[in-house]
Amino acid sequence: MRMKERRRAEEISCSIIRMLRAASGGWVSGKAIGDALGISRAAVWKHIQHLRSMDYRIEASTRLGYRLLGPEPVHLHIPEHLCSRLIMLESVGSTNDFAREIASESESWTVVIAEVQTAGRGRLGREWISPQGGIWMSIILKPMAAPSEAFRYTMAASVAVCRSLRDLYDLNARIKWPNDVLVNGRKICGILTEISAELDIINHIIIGIGINANMSASSLPEEWNATTISAELQREIARGELITRVLEEMRALLESGEVYQEWVRLSDTINRRVSVQGFGDVTGLAVSLEPDGALILRRDDGNLIRILAGDCIHLRSAEQSTGAGTQAEEVSRYA
Ligand code: BTN
Repeated sequence: MRMKERRRAEEISCSIIRMLRAASGGWVSGKAIGDALGISRAAVWKHIQHLRSMDYRIEASTRLGYRLLGPEPVHLHIPEHLCSRLIMLESVGSTNDFAREIASESESWTVVIAEVQTAGRGRLGREWISPQGGIWMSIILKPMAAPSEAFRYTMAASVAVCRSLRDLYDLNARIKWPNDVLVNGRKICGILTEISAELDIINHIIIGIGINANMSASSLPEEWNATTISAELQREIARGELITRVLEEMRALLESGEVYQEWVRLSDTINRRVSVQGFGDVTGLAVSLEPDGALILRRDDGNLIRILAGDCIHLRSAEQSTGAGTQAEEVSRYA
């Protein structure tokens, strides 16, 4: 199917779901759907089949039409043991904001997922566009840890997303420092971590994960250089399955103590010439990553500089790696 036709088909499927949702579990006739969308009843049936293949539980009756059976599809694959509580929202400003409001009375591993965010937030105060079809979720964690360890949880999230995209869909996912997940150089996932802490102990961490899943890349601004899973695979995915894998990977990583090593191995930044903007602009060669999340850059004057936060731009691909045992060699072995 060509891109334009695919997008039209996606729009129709979304409209059907919206109509079924609006009926709150009641029946909607095939004729009513067809009339509203200007398509035949046979075409409605084809879309229903497609939606079922994406895990939507839709009951069909020749007499009554169609109705949506709860729960929402992303629930379907998420086993109970992965979250202490799962909160599914149709629409919210930002799942991170919602999570922050409930954090003090929530248990660790409470997960908030929204179909749509109307005021999604990115790093460095940016907007995060969050239409239907994406994965917009926030995880509340309450580790007994010092604030200096918070970065480890963000690392675990980006590694978990990367591994899941590689294992489930064979996508060439890698991490751009600090925690963007890229597929073939284009951003597919961003992570916004926010913490509340005393001087020596974390109260809670909120890990906000945004994955461009079943949505067209053209719904995102071109200058974002972003991609989506459905654009990469030319098909839609079962989001519940991906969410489950990400949560499983994150839990396993945090227990394994291998978070940092994996984060380094999946890095797309090491051995690249980069420019980092934030607290002043710095350009140089990314030589290594440190366990606290810092990026070590060799500036053009030869001096090494340690950067803890900023916006990283990959300028051009890897320069020659220098010798065995470097992080650059580690990374190239993983590719
Ligand atoms: C970035 O790369 O700038 C981080 C983007 C983080 C987006 C996610 S979507 C779920 C959660 N809620 C938000 O408002 N932001 C994060």
